[in-house]
Amino acid sequence: MIREGVIRRINGSLIIAEGLPDAKIGDVAYIGGQRLIGEVVKISGNEVDLQCYEDTSGLRPGEPVVNTGKPLVAELGPGLVGEIFDGLERSELELWRLTGPFIKKGYRIAPLRRDKKWHFIPRIKVGDRVTEGDILGIVRETSVVEHRILTPVGINGVVERIEEGDFRVEEPIAEIRLPSGEKREITMVQVWPVRIPRPYKRRLPVTDPLFTGQRVIDMFFPVAKGGTAAIPGGFGSGKTITLHQIAKWSDADIVIYIGCGERGNEMAEVITNFPQLEDPRTGKKLIERAIFIANVSNLPVSAREASVYMGVTIAEYLRDQGYHVAVIIDSTSRWAEALRDLSGRLEEIPAEEGYPAYLAERIAGIYERAGKVVALGGADRVGSVTIMGAVSPPGGDFSEPVTSTTIRYVGSLWALDTELAYRRHFPAINWLRSFTKYVGLLDEFWGRYDPNWKIYRERALEVLEEASRLEEIARVIGEKALPDEQRLILLVSEIIREGYLVQHAFHEVDTYCPPEKQVEILKVIIGFYDLARPLIEAGVPVDRLRELRSVMELLRLKEKKTLEEIMEDSARLKTELESLKAEYEVKAA
Ligand SMILES: Nc1ncnc2c1ncn2[C@@H]1O[C@H](COP(=O)(O)OP(=O)(O)OP(=O)(O)O)[C@@H](O)[C@H]1O
Ligand SMILES: [Mg+2]
Repeated sequence: MIREGVIRRINGSLIIAEGLPDAKIGDVAYIGGQRLIGEVVKISGNEVDLQCYEDTSGLRPGEPVVNTGKPLVAELGPGLVGEIFDGLERSELELWRLTGPFIKKGYRIAPLRRDKKWHFIPRIKVGDRVTEGDILGIVRETSVVEHRILTPVGINGVVERIEEGDFRVEEPIAEIRLPSGEKREITMVQVWPVRIPRPYKRRLPVTDPLFTGQRVIDMFFPVAKGGTAAIPGGFGSGKTITLHQIAKWSDADIVIYIGCGERGNEMAEVITNFPQLEDPRTGKKLIERAIFIANVSNLPVSAREASVYMGVTIAEYLRDQGYHVAVIIDSTSRWAEALRDLSGRLEEIPAEEGYPAYLAERIAGIYERAGKVVALGGADRVGSVTIMGAVSPPGGDFSEPVTSTTIRYVGSLWALDTELAYRRHFPAINWLRSFTKYVGLLDEFWGRYDPNWKIYRERALEVLEEASRLEEIARVIGEKALPDEQRLILLVSEIIREGYLVQHAFHEVDTYCPPEKQVEILKVIIGFYDLARPLIEAGVPVDRLRELRSVMELLRLKEKKTLEEIMEDSARLKTELESLKAEYEVKAA
């Protein structure tokens, strides 16, 4: 195979080389004297086009290009969890330590640390037969994650040697005799091409919601473990904060956060702040069960493209170990811009707004890698990958190509509304424009807390919808001109919005709302509606209800620490409503 060619032309991140007759699409090559990383994206005649993932300034025609003949891979093994990587899986923490904030180009460091020793504990013994995907043993990776070392894909045989001990990732921990008689040493590190989904035994229907502790999501627009969601929203509408809340509070075992092409100065922030974040679920640091892929300032736009696949591949590998992994991409629009940029340089015929015609296929390709599966291996081990992506439509216009395409492929949509954000209704998820295909999963989940949960949910949605219709009318004729039954609907809708949907990420108590509290509050609010309706019919003016202290307290139920406090408030509300009723019965008599 001919490995070395030469650069002919350079167009930003696109390099046109010659003399690589054996190149295939997807081959990784080292470009120029600095050995910048690139990938073959187009071949025409003698010319090979490469997308370079590093800054190409200073590069000149005539410099060499070396084709590795191998695809872009993720290195998988102990040392992933707790790391901050760039889109090419180089440790930002390590690079930062070595070079400071200005990372040198072409810097090579192995993704997983080579010097660190991990304590390996076998889960099988000599003479056992193993198939691909079986757990060979475990390593304690962080205080909260146990890394399960899997028999690599494609390997089946009998264990000849395996032992407990302290090993570096490249040292053999076991030896397996293949059916051919050949012996194969197994280390704790394996590689997988990032653009190819990892195999599994079979896909399972999704059955459980990913619980986030955020009421508008959990109760109204949940995402499944193994499902997909998108959160589109204009500038500053709360995409990042909402996704951070999910990273912190969701009941995923491991979180992979892909910071895709966000502002450059976020780099220092990420490296200094992210490792400090508390993990409210474990009481430790969040990074003990998280991996951060921060595609930051020093890598050009093109590297964003790879980072998403890198993150998803790592997620699949952890899924195969039997974990529920949440992948968060902030934002997929930045990723799509990288596609557009490359497509433009390749002079492809543009489709809508300059995006390539294969935009939809690529977006679908990412979300399709979500799922709940039975992993390879003899014993059934279930894991899932949930993918949640922010979308940043310019001007907040959801009809633009990336947003409108994404909406077609996701199971849940959390549509952020600039108007709500402006009024400081956070999370600014618009309840009329959002959707979920996972309502069916809620029965079992919420049924555990209250058999009537569905009634509360449906009634709440009805009130919200009816209220939005009434608000239109009220805008014309004035709220006070509406009959009291309708004004009651507006009052209840206000309570649902302020007292339920609004949830401040920075509120000490309300930042996370446990499931029993989520149902209880909704039950009390809907209960109020049911008690208030006959009162209105009996002639009690809505304004009297509004004045009741316990009605206004409904807005504060979410700030209560215990269910008892909520129930006490609910009891007080009933008493107040009853005395109001009595008052009007006397009047009527
Ligand atoms: N759940 C929330 N609770 C309280 N405040 C919030 C919440 N969500 C968003 N905000 C407020 O909105 C601001 C902007 O949020 P955020 O940075 O998440 O927006 P964004 O959509 O990611 O913006 P960009 O388009 O710049 O990426 C935050 O700084 C915060 O003040
Ligand atoms: Mg943001």
